[in-house]
Amino acid sequence: MEKIRLEPTLALPMPVTLVGAMVEGKPNFMAAAWVTRVNVKPPLIGVAVNHRQYTGQGIRETGIFSLCLPGPDAVAKTDYCGLVSGRKVDKAALFDVFYGELKTAPMIRECPLCLEVRLTQTVELPVDNFYIGEIVAGWADAAILTDGAPDVTKYRPLVLTMPDNRYWSLGESVADAWSVGKVFKKGESE
Ligand SMILES: Cc1cc2nc3c(=O)[nH]c(=O)nc-3n(C[C@H](O)[C@H](O)[C@H](O)COP(=O)(O)O)c2cc1C
Repeated sequence: MEKIRLEPTLALPMPVTLVGAMVEGKPNFMAAAWVTRVNVKPPLIGVAVNHRQYTGQGIRETGIFSLCLPGPDAVAKTDYCGLVSGRKVDKAALFDVFYGELKTAPMIRECPLCLEVRLTQTVELPVDNFYIGEIVAGWADAAILTDGAPDVTKYRPLVLTMPDNRYWSLGESVADAWSVGKVFKKGESE
């Protein structure tokens, strides 16, 4: 099929998170979608944060941050956390905030799945800093677990698409990963 050239500013579908950090001694949260796992062992995760974000100041101050996954019920609060800065309003007042093992990674009780993260590396980029950190612990509502693991059909993560700027829920599972492709294997090893 013929391909149409697009501008390089396009973005792939992304998970919607709330990044938390203590800034000037108080919890703050911002919406972030430029988030990805970057290493298997130790378990590292990275988030791209624009230099101007108040949350980034807290990540640099404390070396600690959190990532919480809001469900559909929290979409408006999440969007709000992406519209206004903690420099101007107390966004943490919207939430029931809790702390885990690191004691200084603010997390959100309404979010069914949260990670607390210790900063290990900062990659300085022209507009963003890419903060990479080790996941120290995950915290999940018991109700979203199936056989001890988070079950997306229960916690219903949000996905962001750009440039249409919309939040989505996941659709149906289409196949099992590391499995469905085996039909093409002809005896080759991994
Ligand atoms: C859905 C959504 C996703 C966002 N993703 C990011 C992101 O990945 N990185 C970033 O720096 N800002 C992102 N933003 C913008 C920040 O959340 C926004 O500028 C926020 O006000 C920063 O808050 P703070 O100054 O309290 O840290 C996003 C906003 C929305 C609505």
